[in-house]
This record gives sequence, C-alpha cells and structure tokens, in this order.
Amino acid sequence: MDKLLKALKKIVGDAGYISGEDVASRPARWGTNHMHQAKALLRPANTQEISEILALCNKNKQSVVTVGGNTGMVGGTVTSEADILLSLERMNKVIEIDPVSRTLTVEAGLPLEQAQTEASDVGLLFPIDLGARGSATIGGNIATNAGGNGVIRYGMMRDLVLGLEVVLADGTIISSLNKLIKNNTGYDTKHLFIGAEGTLGIITKAVLKLKPAMPSLSTAFVAVDSFDAVLALLARADRELGGKLTAFEVMWENFYSFIKTDPTMRAPAFDDAHPYYILLEATGGSIDEDADQFQRVMWSMFEERLVTDAVIAQTMQERDNMWAFRDNVTHLFTIENLIGYDISVPQSHMEAYVSSITGELEAKLNVPKLIIFGHLGDGNLHILVSSDRPEDVNAILYGALKDIGGSISAEHGIGLDKKAYLTTCRSDEEMALMQSLKKTMDPNNILNPGKIL
Ligand code: FAD
Ligand code: MLT
Ligand code: ZN
Repeated sequence: MDKLLKALKKIVGDAGYISGEDVASRPARWGTNHMHQAKALLRPANTQEISEILALCNKNKQSVVTVGGNTGMVGGTVTSEADILLSLERMNKVIEIDPVSRTLTVEAGLPLEQAQTEASDVGLLFPIDLGARGSATIGGNIATNAGGNGVIRYGMMRDLVLGLEVVLADGTIISSLNKLIKNNTGYDTKHLFIGAEGTLGIITKAVLKLKPAMPSLSTAFVAVDSFDAVLALLARADRELGGKLTAFEVMWENFYSFIKTDPTMRAPAFDDAHPYYILLEATGGSIDEDADQFQRVMWSMFEERLVTDAVIAQTMQERDNMWAFRDNVTHLFTIENLIGYDISVPQSHMEAYVSSITGELEAKLNVPKLIIFGHLGDGNLHILVSSDRPEDVNAILYGALKDIGGSISAEHGIGLDKKAYLTTCRSDEEMALMQSLKKTMDPNNILNPGKIL
C-alpha cells in the first residue's frame, strides 16, 4: 500500500477503509453494471476526518470523488482508477429538529426519506420528494439542487436549505449552520455549493427548512386529449385550488403504454388511449373542505371537456398506486440503449418543441423508442430515447432548445454526461466565471475533477 493510502487509512480506521474487489463491487452509476474503479473507498465518520482527508489529498494532488446515495443521473459519481472515492454513508445522523423554528439539522449522508419521516413525526413536512427517496441523501440532493415532485408548490432544494457545513478542497471547515430565514450579512456562500455536484467542496451537514404538514391529500389521475387542455388544466388547477396544487406530473401516451407493460403496476384503467395523462395532487389544511373543493374543480374541468376521463384516488393505496406508476423509472431503465434527457422548456414552447424533436428523431434516426414525461408544472420534461447514436440524438434535442431559451438540465445537473453541451446554454462570460470560481476554490483540481467543467 502506498504512503498516501496508508495515511488515509489511518485517518478513517479499518471501519472507514475499503479497497480492491469491495470497491469494484459497487456500481458507479445507478441502474447500470458500470462499477467503481477507485484506489480506495473512504467512509469517514465525521467532518474532522473529511477535513484531514482533503488536507492530505490536496497536498498530494490526489483527486476525490464524493458519493451519497449514488442515484444521480448524469455520471457525477463516476470514478477512475486514479481517484479516491469518499462516501458519506456513515455520516447519516439527525443532529437536531426544532419544531418551533421549523428547522431540521442533519448530517449530509442521511437518506432523504429519513429526513421526511423525521419531519412528519413532529407534524411537519420536508417537501423535497422524488422516486429515489429511499437511497438519495440530503448531501446528494443539495449537491445536485434536486427538484422532484413538489417543486411547483415548494421550490427546489436550494429554496429549502438554510445553512451548510462544508469542507473545502484544502481541508478548511466552513461551518455556516444558519437557522435564520432572514440573514443578509454579506455573500450567502452556501449557494456556491448547492448544485455544484461536489466540485467546490464536500457538504457535511445541512440545516433544512420545514413546512407545516398538510392534513388533506387529494390525488387524481386524468386523461386529456390535447396539449392546450394540459396547459389550461394546469392554469385552472393552480388558480382554482387556491395555491394547494402540489404536483402536476404529465405522462405522454408512450410513457403510459410502456409502464403498463410492467405486470406489478396497478394502472388507473381508462377505456381508450389518450395522448396525455396527468397525475395531479393537492394538499391543504382542511380534510373535508379540501376534498369537496378538489372534486368540484375536477368536475368542472370534466364538464368543460378539459379532462376526458379521470380517476380520483379514494384510498391511500389507490393514491400510492398512482405514484408508483408515475415513479416507475426502474422499469424504464430496462429499455436498451437508453439515453435520458432532463430538459427545461418554457411551457409556451413545449408542444412545438416536442413535435419538432419527435419528427426529427423519427425521420433522421428512426428511433425504436421515445418516452416523454415529467414535472410539466415546472416546465421540466424527461425525454428517454433508445438509440445507439447518442451524439445525433443530442444534436436534435439540444439544438432545438437554444432558440427557445431552454436548458439542457432542469434538475439532474451536468456531471459527465451533459458537460460537452454546457456551453449551449451558458455564455462565454458565465463559463469563465465558473472556471475562475473552480480555480480559486480548488486550485489543484482535486474535487470531482472533470465533472461539470
Ligand atoms: P449521488 O448520486 O451520490 O451524487 C450526485 C452528485 O452529488 C455527484 O456529483 C456527487 O459527487 C455529489 N455529491 C453527493 N453527495 C455530496 C456531498 N455530501 N457533498 C458534495 N457533493 C456530493 N432528481 C431530481 O432532481 N428530481 C427527481 O424527480 C429525481 N428522480 C429520480 C428518480 C430515480 C428513480 C433516480 C434513480 C434518481 C432521481 N433523481 C431525481 C436524480 C437525483 O439527482 C438524485 O436522486 C439525488 O438528488 C442524488 O442524491 P444522491 O445522494 O444519490 O447523490
Ligand atoms: C423522475 O422525475 O422520475 C426522474 O427525474 C427520473 C428520470 O428522469 O428518469
Ligand atoms: Zn424528475
């Protein structure tokens, strides 16, 4: 074992050091057989150990890739044989919950679902929610500025982080565990690390903002026959539900018919096929009044033929089945040669965008499978294409974004996979500023090198 590895092992102890086959047995990308290749995997127990690790790695110009739950979708945790992999899996404790100030302070390796449970145990809500909730960590959610299913009501991860503790590339610990909502005291440096995908520092602790838990929950799965009706339904539901709309997830017919092929799914049954399906959910403060209001709004949409068919969940089980259907990304990933896109498009351009790329994909590449779904309420589409010509698909999907002010990444980040296209939606000046921040904060380029930039 070389000198550096010996010194790193001394910092984390036997329980914190994994090497050889045990590293190679861990997937480097969610849902694939692409395995890690690092020199060693370190599992530090606390911030001090991370500080010592980075100080040593920085001195030795040793690259470090941080991993949380490894559910990221852009290759942000991929390692090479030259890297050290650092996992937050032992730093998974709840530090404090303050129900009065409505804050939750946690270690960064805490799984998202446990943060949600911790909040709900005291009648509060941590509103970030996504299909990978059981494995994804708070640190990973912050590092990718995750979005998910409740953004339309509660915003993205950035909107729910009050304070952070971070270790910089040279081992300096920046402890900024602010719990205040208002605190305009100079630069708010936590935002540098939110969405930075582990390239500017390692997030070790976070103070999260909690919201009141809502007693009422109304969920519907509806079929809609035109894109105009989808947008009209969004605008109407948002307004007429009086701010209670919490999710507006749209599935194109190609998503619906593919997920139905999974025999474990309990799909809401409709007599005919429809071009669009929508899962919409509202939460509020009054169980009876909210249920009445939801029924009334849905009924008026139905009468006005904005909605062609609808199922309103009558039990929690029915509601969970609807979400399991929408969140069945695992089944989607059984498709061969799958390329995943996570784009943002202004809603006013969405129909024309989808129609243009669908036409091009068919005419030029004759793709065997195209699936579209996403958090349409936030202008965020996930487009899955099966093709062995990724560069050509990229050119079609990203090319059409430029003129309409779209983004190549709505919520998954850049990582390795989108890096070559970052300049298509960032100016030269923005790129230069990002490069200069990276150089200043990580002059030896040891933190997740080659990701984003
Ligand atoms: P990882 O995958 O481990 O890491 C992601 C990136 O963050 C890497 O670059 C890594 O180096 C960095 N990182 C991790 N921890 C730290 C840390 N402590 N400090 C610094 N850097 C760190 N995303 C959405 O936004 N919305 C969704 O709806 C959504 N749904 C998903 C559904 C499924 C089934 C799956 C598999 C993924 C989904 N994602 C979604 C992707 C999303 O990015 C992650 O689920 C999550 O935010 C990543 O957390 P993680 O702990 O797994 O991070
Ligand atoms: C989702 O919304 O389910 C995801 O972000 C996952 C995906 O894009 O496949
Ligand atoms: Zn998503």
